[in-house]
Amino acid sequence: MSIIDTSDAGRSGLTGSARDFRVPGGPDLLGRGDGFFAWQQTRRQNGYWPFSRSTETRPGTACRARDDSGNPMEGVNFSSQDYLSLAAHPEIAEVATDAVKRFGVHSAGSAVLVGNTASSVALERRIADFLEMEQAVLYPTGWAAGYGVIRGLVRSADHIVMDALSHTCLQEGASASTQNISLFRHLDLDHCRSKLQAIRAKDARNGVMVITEGLFSMDSDTPDLAALQALCNEYSATLMVDVAHDLGALGTEGRGHIGIQGMLGKVDLVMGSFSKTFASNGGFVATNRRAIKEYLRYYSPSTTFSNALSPVQTAVIGKAFEIVASAEGKMLREKLMRNVVSLRRQFGEQGLDVYGDPSAIVCAKVGAESIARMVSRRLPTLGLLANLVEYPAVAKGAARFRLQVMAGHSEENIRHAVKAIKLAVDEARIMAAVREARSRAMAA
Ligand SMILES: Cc1ncc(COP(=O)(O)O)c(C=O)c1O
Repeated sequence: MSIIDTSDAGRSGLTGSARDFRVPGGPDLLGRGDGFFAWQQTRRQNGYWPFSRSTETRPGTACRARDDSGNPMEGVNFSSQDYLSLAAHPEIAEVATDAVKRFGVHSAGSAVLVGNTASSVALERRIADFLEMEQAVLYPTGWAAGYGVIRGLVRSADHIVMDALSHTCLQEGASASTQNISLFRHLDLDHCRSKLQAIRAKDARNGVMVITEGLFSMDSDTPDLAALQALCNEYSATLMVDVAHDLGALGTEGRGHIGIQGMLGKVDLVMGSFSKTFASNGGFVATNRRAIKEYLRYYSPSTTFSNALSPVQTAVIGKAFEIVASAEGKMLREKLMRNVVSLRRQFGEQGLDVYGDPSAIVCAKVGAESIARMVSRRLPTLGLLANLVEYPAVAKGAARFRLQVMAGHSEENIRHAVKAIKLAVDEARIMAAVREARSRAMAA
């Protein structure tokens, strides 16, 4: 498709993809956003730009927000990632207030200088213990942790073998570290093995990092971690698992798929984010070697040369870990899972397919971006906030609605979400069929 689509659908912003503007050329760097912006404006003016919304209230199970043109919306919120609803927990607010009183609001330095506090040192210990690992290092965000663990350890002669659907922070960390990157088909262990075999047949001297996620954030599925670790041991490779979406929220003890699969303390490197379950920005890397912790601290640029997490953040995350590990945490996970199972079942009953296995990420399949954009325009008018996901977060043509379920959602919230999506999808399909018939008639 040409970038300028003059068809009826193109003029209203239903065609085209962010993919079309990935590689703008020419000498004028400052002109590089123009094509994208024109396309985005077309979508925006027609109500098809559902990104960069801002909340006007706490992002709880109900929320008031505005789109990026300032139009207000209000409704049941399935677009925020606070899986155990801890952001609204009174003990979290209390610990944040206490931290401000004791430490102030700012860490005022990198963790390699004086950015750590008693609270961040205690948090590193707590995370390592929770995962039954020896050590943990904190990062300013989960993204920085994913990027930084790869950039910190992998050098240009080394190799990376990664699941093709790995998160962008892992892909960017890989690209910044080496050109020797092999992607294996999503969750496909045989394909991973064949990549490792090919590398080791030629190169026994350099390192190989195998990268995957505990729970894939758009597909809600999970690799066999024990088998992957065994493969890594066989080929002298190092396994790195991103547990951003499952840690805290899945498993009877909240230790995610590493816990569910009996792999606590046995995975070479574990990296995670606090932004989904632990009520704060921030990320970590856990390892069984003190030397790796020290090395990352000084050679992983996204922590070494970045300001440490603030004392408010580390206090909040520490309290969130305490709740996650408690009987209350277990009860919240059970509530979350009941919500997830109910949402998936109700989607199925309405003939809407969902991806993967039960987790806090429930993605309803749509496919065509044109249909998905019509649905996304309609949802706020039906009192539902739910994220449209399209390229670059997923492949072109695989658009979906990603509902992020919280323990705090009620059965009524779930029924409302399913009803709204079903109605909006049905309407969008009818409108698409009418549009198609009209353009066929005009062409005839
Ligand atoms: C799998 C995965 N890893 C890492 C990140 C980055 O985490 P953060 O939001 O804490 O930067 C995300 C968040 O989108 C994610 O989904």
